[in-house]
Amino acid sequence: MSRVLPLITTVDLRRTYTLGSEEISALRGIDLTVLPGQFIAVVGRSGSGKTTLLNILAGLDKPTSGTVMFEDRDIAEMGEHDLTELRRHKIGFVFQSFGLLPLLSAFENVELPLRIAGVGTRDREERTREALEIVGLWNRARHRPYELSGGEQQRVAIARAIVNEPPLILADEPTGELDSNNARSIFGLFKEMVQNRGISVVSATHDSTLLEMADEVKEIRDGQLFDATDLGRRYRD
Ligand SMILES: Nc1ncnc2c1ncn2[C@@H]1O[C@H](COP(=O)(O)OP(=O)(O)OP(=O)(O)O)[C@@H](O)[C@H]1O
Ligand SMILES: [Mg+2]
Repeated sequence: MSRVLPLITTVDLRRTYTLGSEEISALRGIDLTVLPGQFIAVVGRSGSGKTTLLNILAGLDKPTSGTVMFEDRDIAEMGEHDLTELRRHKIGFVFQSFGLLPLLSAFENVELPLRIAGVGTRDREERTREALEIVGLWNRARHRPYELSGGEQQRVAIARAIVNEPPLILADEPTGELDSNNARSIFGLFKEMVQNRGISVVSATHDSTLLEMADEVKEIRDGQLFDATDLGRRYRD
């Protein structure tokens, strides 16, 4: 039997912020493994370090100590060029506030990462259409963000995150600005993509009613990570 290679492994990850004479230890030794095809929800009170962790996993911030392996590469040893390539091809981001460009249509917003990656016109059109179909918004392709509901804008942001077919989606409170129905549909979409496409999702959330949809729930407390998968089970059925 072949062993499944983790997508991400962190070992004793620490992040200390220094502000003047004050030191804040946001992460104090995080060991996390993300397998292909796994949906992990990260919970924790405000200020517990969820965003800090996601930013480090994305290579947007560097840990004070500890390692992050992406597949078989230590991201601390990657230069700016390789990190940019990693973010461009391997990771899709979804943020709380959508982050869509207001002057571009839904289609153009989703297409943008493909333009940046130098994908040809015909391929771009096909893949953009497919991504919008996955999130159920092909019929809104020509709308600008302000002509879409909040839930629809977040689905466009997800289409943009998956259009490059990255193996990993990192989401920071993607449902924070949505009502509970829309929040459920976003997490449902993640679950579907994990099951049908074998991608992995790591998503921070405040909403405990969504946790049942994740394969694993991790809680950050005092800068450390604890398994809290039973938090999700509590909401099942
Ligand atoms: N750039 C920074 N400089 C100094 N301290 C920071 C910085 N960013 C975050 N912190 C501190 O690190 C801790 C973790 O912050 P982080 O943003 O990761 O929390 P969070 O779990 O995402 O919170 P929330 O749920 O409110 O989004 C907090 O105490 C915060 O004040
Ligand atoms: Mg945060």
